[in-house]
Amino acid sequence: MEDKKVILSGIQATGNLTLGNYIGALKNFVRMQDEFDCNYMIANMHALTVRRDPAELKENTLKVLATYIAAGIDPEKSTIFVQSQVREHAELGWVLDCYTYMGELNRMTQFKDKSAKHADNINAGLYTYPSLMAGDILLYQADIVPTGEDQKQHVELTRDIAERFNKLYGDTFKIPEPYIPKAGARIMGLQDPTSKMSKSSTIPNDTILLVDTPEDIMKKVKKAVTDSEGVVKYDVANKPGVSNLMTIYSVINNITLDDVEKEFEGKGYGDFKTAVAEAIVKELEPFHKKYNELMNNREYLEKIYTEGAKKASEKASKTLRLVYEKVGLI
Ligand code: TRP
Repeated sequence: MEDKKVILSGIQATGNLTLGNYIGALKNFVRMQDEFDCNYMIANMHALTVRRDPAELKENTLKVLATYIAAGIDPEKSTIFVQSQVREHAELGWVLDCYTYMGELNRMTQFKDKSAKHADNINAGLYTYPSLMAGDILLYQADIVPTGEDQKQHVELTRDIAERFNKLYGDTFKIPEPYIPKAGARIMGLQDPTSKMSKSSTIPNDTILLVDTPEDIMKKVKKAVTDSEGVVKYDVANKPGVSNLMTIYSVINNITLDDVEKEFEGKGYGDFKTAVAEAIVKELEPFHKKYNELMNNREYLEKIYTEGAKKASEKASKTLRLVYEKVGLI
């Protein structure tokens, strides 16, 4: 038990999660919980870097929690917690702010993207977001951080901060490795298959939400952008739309892209799309049922996050105590 590698990852408490989150993140989270000591966080403090409606932020926090459990994360096996309930995150975040250079933060692509998108609210939290995230990871002495390609830069900065700190004060933090799962790491938009499927996409029918009805899913997949070739073949450069649908189908059915090509040889996009949509609907059916049950059982959710916070805090406080000692905070 003690020598299990430690995993830490988190999803921001913003809006409804997508099929991209499910395939790229959640399915991996679930797969890893038997082998590793897993900590899954709901990053609600990170969500504050953009103006949010308070009631909505609270509701979204519970939605992500219900999504975690409905997707198969077992609160008995993994530590599931809400970031704001474990005070050590804010505390270590501040300390790490003092060990992160502005030059490093200036290079973060997410900061540049978000500043462009929210030009009227480029706040200090948006800027120091990566130090808070470094704290999330380092508090748990995580070995591995499963995440999307877009977060790799933040994990690399976390490593730099940890190494800098260790050099100054002696071994304190484990140096974490980013882990970007190959299969399905990047599920793309259905209308714009050259950019990642995102809950914040403004293009209609671009994103499949986990709460979409089977009818929505069928409609969106049927409308997905393809090409005029009419052949189900994997070729991201020339056939990004079809390739994306193939990825979705292969990950859900646990088969290779070659298998998908063979299965649809000589068949048109109509048949292919129907099969993809049906696979998604079937995959999400048990998820929907569980998710709705959970969202109707607030007491249970409260119990889970309260217990999760206790477990997380026990681990996090050990690291924070060590850090305070090292830097000389009483
Ligand atoms: N920044 C991540 C995102 O936007 C969310 C996150 C916060 C996270 N803290 C983390 C991810 C720690 C991995 C580890 O998706």
